[in-house]
Formats: sequence, C-alpha cells, structure tokens
Amino acid sequence: MRLEKLHLLNFKNYTSADVEFTGAIHCFVGRNGSGKTNLLEAIHYLCLTRGFTAASDSENVRKGEGHFLVRGTFALDGRTREVTCTYSAERKKKIAEDGKEYARFSDHIGKYPLVMVAPADIELVWDGGEVRRRFFDTLLSQLDRKYLDQLMVYQANLRHRNGLLKMYAERPDVDKELLATYDERLITAGAFLYQQRREFVANLVPRLRSHYDFLVEGAAEEPGIAYTSDLDTLDFGSELKARLSRDLLLGRTTVGVHRDDFRFTLQGNDLRVFGSQGQQKSFLIALKMAEFDTLTERNGFKPLLLLDDIFDKLDDRRIVQLMKRVADGSFGQIFLTDARPGRSREALAEAGIPAQIFTVEGGTLAGQP
Ligand SMILES: Nc1ncnc2c1ncn2[C@@H]1O[C@H](COP(=O)(O)OP(=O)(O)OP(=O)(O)O)[C@@H](O)[C@H]1O
Ligand SMILES: [Mg+2]
Repeated sequence: MRLEKLHLLNFKNYTSADVEFTGAIHCFVGRNGSGKTNLLEAIHYLCLTRGFTAASDSENVRKGEGHFLVRGTFALDGRTREVTCTYSAERKKKIAEDGKEYARFSDHIGKYPLVMVAPADIELVWDGGEVRRRFFDTLLSQLDRKYLDQLMVYQANLRHRNGLLKMYAERPDVDKELLATYDERLITAGAFLYQQRREFVANLVPRLRSHYDFLVEGAAEEPGIAYTSDLDTLDFGSELKARLSRDLLLGRTTVGVHRDDFRFTLQGNDLRVFGSQGQQKSFLIALKMAEFDTLTERNGFKPLLLLDDIFDKLDDRRIVQLMKRVADGSFGQIFLTDARPGRSREALAEAGIPAQIFTVEGGTLAGQP
C-alpha cells in the first residue's frame, strides 16, 4: 500500500496543501510549530478515522474556519483509491472511499493499516492501564474486524450496565431482567476479548524480543508483556452476580476485561520503574516494529509507518540500527519528521537511503530534490 497524494483544506495550521509522494521515504523538516506533525495526523485520519493527538475533530479545524477536509490517494491492490475525511460542526465527521460514504467507521478501520511512532508513546510506559488497553484494542481492531465488533458490544453494554447501576443505586428493585441481558452480552464479548488478547500477547512477545535485541545489539535484556485480567482467576458470570450489591453502591462494574492491563517488563521487572530512559524508548520502538510485523502478516502488505521526531527519541547507535532496517527494505512507505533538517539528511544519506525531503514553514510545504 502506498499513499501517493495528500490534499488538505483548513486542517490545523494548513489553509490548503497538496503533496505528491514519490519513492518510499518522505521526510518533513522545519522549525518547531511549523506543521510537520500535523501532516502525520492528517494521514492518521485517513487510515484510522481519527487523529492521534488529544485534539478533538473540531479543534483540528483551522482557527476561524468551519470545516476541514483531508483527502488521500492510495495505491492498493493494484488500484487507485481515494479516501476523504471531512468534518464540520453541522455535518460532523464523514469518511468516504472513492466518493462513497461509510455508514460505520468501523468498516474502514483496518483497510489502510498504519503504525505510528510518536513522542507521546512514552505514556504507554508511564501511564495507567487504560492507555495500554487502548493501544492493544486499536491494534487488535486493525487486525480483526470481529475484535472491533465485540469490543464495541462490550463497551456499549458496560455503559448501559453502569447507567442502570447508577439509576438504581438508591432503590432496592434493580431491573433484574435488563441486568441479565447486559450481563449475558458482557460475558460473551468479554470471553472473546480475553481469549484474543491472551493469544495476541503470546504471539507478540517473541517478535518484540527479536526487534529489541536488534536495536540494543543483543544485550539480552528480555523485554516482556504481562497480560493480566480479572478473568485469569475468576468466573466472570458468577463474579458479576456476587458483586452486584457492591456495584450498585459504587454505580459501576468492578469486574471484567475493561480492567485488564498489559504490563511492560524487562527481565520480569516493571519497565516503568526499572527501565532506563533508553531502555524504555527501545522497548517502545521494538513494540511498534512488532506491531508492524503482525499487520504485515495479517494483510499481506506493509502498513504505512509514521515516525514523528524519531531522531530526538533515540541515541546515535540506535538510530543507526533503525536506519539499517529502513535501508534493508524491512518497511514499506515511511513518513518522518525532524526539526533539525541537517541531522535527518545526514542519517539518511549515511545509510544510503534515498528520501524525498519537504520543508514545512508555517503551514506551507515545499518539496526539495
Ligand atoms: N486548529 C488549528 N488552527 C490553526 N493552527 C493550529 C490548529 N491546531 C494546531 N495549530 C497549529 O499547528 C502548529 C503545530 O503544528 P505541529 O505540531 O505540526 O508542529 P511541528 O512542526 O510538528 O512542531 P515540532 O517540531 O515542535 O514538533 C502550532 O503552531 C499550532 O498553533
Ligand atoms: Mg511535531
């Protein structure tokens, strides 16, 4: 899969922009705040129907304007396809492929796979379980349509159940029938999600290890992911019943796969506490490379790879190692950003990687040979 053209209208700090991508490696360089990351975010919208920063759809509309439009021309399966994402306060967000609007965004997710490496990834190490759950849910959803469907079923029924618990918090007569319906759906969807997450982690860890070893040049630091769930030891159905009075009191469901965690480890120790900054960064890059592999295997073609501020994240040796992978064709099409043009130009030239370099300045783009 390749992104051949990108067109932006009133997206973030771009009034309008048109870029054509030739070759495989595209590098956006320019000062801080010029709009490099914004370009990656636009590509993220096209592939995954949303951005990757904290900004909401409405905050991504250029200040003072009423709507944004992002359009990408992709080469996929020997055909050209056009994906368009538009947003306005009145019409909300719309995603269309070749002019045909999707009724459900979930039908689009997974068709245009993407792996993103960004400075904010460090949250995966530092923050609570929710951030890691979201990462694995997003990845598993890209891999398997059924996972996304079951996740949506689980989340919707959890919301309904919690709503019911709150409604009946101070009344003795909770609607048992409705509760049983929600529980039934939670149990089925929960069992599926649990199984998929377990299997997925088991398959991912060997890949994570091999990429990590390559990045740190075989230091044998044994990265791992410990998947933990209430369902490891408890029977979900009977536990939901057993905890009902407590759940009513708290107004939320205190057992289930919405509380799962994926803990990152190095030699069995918590990466957050025991890992050095360099080890944490290497872990994250290796994790993303493992993600890349699983998506490639599932789709039979390589996902887009977005590397935001990658040179700031790694020391020189690890950059060299990563560039080796880029040069040997492990990846497909790559988009990277750098606030220091000289550095990326050098690193790419040194590794013998031909790249298309664009200079970004205050929301405008200029190509450079
Ligand atoms: N809705 C918006 N309307 C106008 N400008 C916006 C909007 N959202 C973000 N911006 C602007 O976009 C700029 C940030 O762009 P971006 O994050 O792409 O910069 P960058 O080139 O990646 O910088 P850095 O090198 O610091 O990472 C900021 O100046 C911000 O004010
Ligand atoms: Mg940036």
